[in-house]
Amino acid sequence: MVATAIASNNEVNSARNAAERYGVKSRPDLSYTPAVARETAHLYERVKHHIPAIEWPVHAPYIHAINRLKAERGAVILAHNYQTPEIFHCVADIVGDSLQLAREATKVDAEIIVQCGVHFMAETSKLLNPEKTVLIPDMRAGCSLSESITGADVRLLRERYPGVPVVTYVNTSADVKAETDICCTSSNAVAVVESLASDTVLCIPDEYLALNVAKQTKKTILTWKGHCEVHERFTAEELNAYREADPSIEIIAHPECHPDVIAVADYAGSTSGMINYVKDKKPARALLVTECSMASNIQSEVPEVDFVKPCNLCPHMKRITLPKILDSLLEMREEVLVDPAIASRARLAVERMVALSQ
Ligand code: 13P
Ligand code: SF4
Repeated sequence: MVATAIASNNEVNSARNAAERYGVKSRPDLSYTPAVARETAHLYERVKHHIPAIEWPVHAPYIHAINRLKAERGAVILAHNYQTPEIFHCVADIVGDSLQLAREATKVDAEIIVQCGVHFMAETSKLLNPEKTVLIPDMRAGCSLSESITGADVRLLRERYPGVPVVTYVNTSADVKAETDICCTSSNAVAVVESLASDTVLCIPDEYLALNVAKQTKKTILTWKGHCEVHERFTAEELNAYREADPSIEIIAHPECHPDVIAVADYAGSTSGMINYVKDKKPARALLVTECSMASNIQSEVPEVDFVKPCNLCPHMKRITLPKILDSLLEMREEVLVDPAIASRARLAVERMVALSQ
């Protein structure tokens, strides 16, 4: 019954696109006027360590226009921890790791969600908010993990391992989630695996996350050969060299890294777990083994920490920029829709995860 209602709503949404439903707004003046300078001065305080004063007049008019338009449209901006500081600190309403964003997406009152992150995150928001309009500023913002597997692959795995439950990392398409028993993120993967009755679990598609989970459970973990193109580049040798140069350095890694990398880290956890660890421990020097923007985003909150930045950028996250966010709100694009035939099954897998983590 519910599925039918959602399906028909999605059909209405796709028949009249978001631009037709909400209208297109004309482009605002993007000059750096004294009023813009005054109204964005408090935001500059948050990013002044990363954006030189000479560059602020380029960003400020976009930030000013986005925040105005966001209020006019009644929109909310959800941004992942890997977004650049001017997005993270100056236009986002809610920031977090994948699990936090998925949970917040269930609580959003606004009619329009602009997802500053990659496509699977926007799709997750749409799954949890089928009645709302979800926009992503660049539809090409993908993910190497998400692209490593299809729904057809999962069906073949089920044929090969009958009866084995499938835990799918949230970094996947709705098509893959629809074939899944339950989703997980880097912050709850062990708990999700432990919640299942079976002694053997398929944990896909991130091979390294699965191997790292396997070290924390007695269950047999089967996996897939997907990798994050950002985290797979870090090596234990590289981290050992940093440690030799400064034995007091705290090495904090994301579980998408190879297990050899995790073995030399002082802490491993989701992006928000990493942030909380730094905020709690305030080490003199820290190396965040993850995407480059994370350190920049938290630097102002922990000025006493010296961040060493091996600097691997996620090209997909970096597709999201202030000009594209403004275009997104002006023209109500690009709208994220999920095929109703798969949406209800995919939603169930995400909802099971959200319920487990509450
Ligand atoms: P988190 O869930 O830890 O934020 O990770 C998402 C991600 O894409 C990391 O590469
Ligand atoms: Fe995907 Fe890796 Fe980019 Fe995260 S950092 S979105 S896992 S490619």
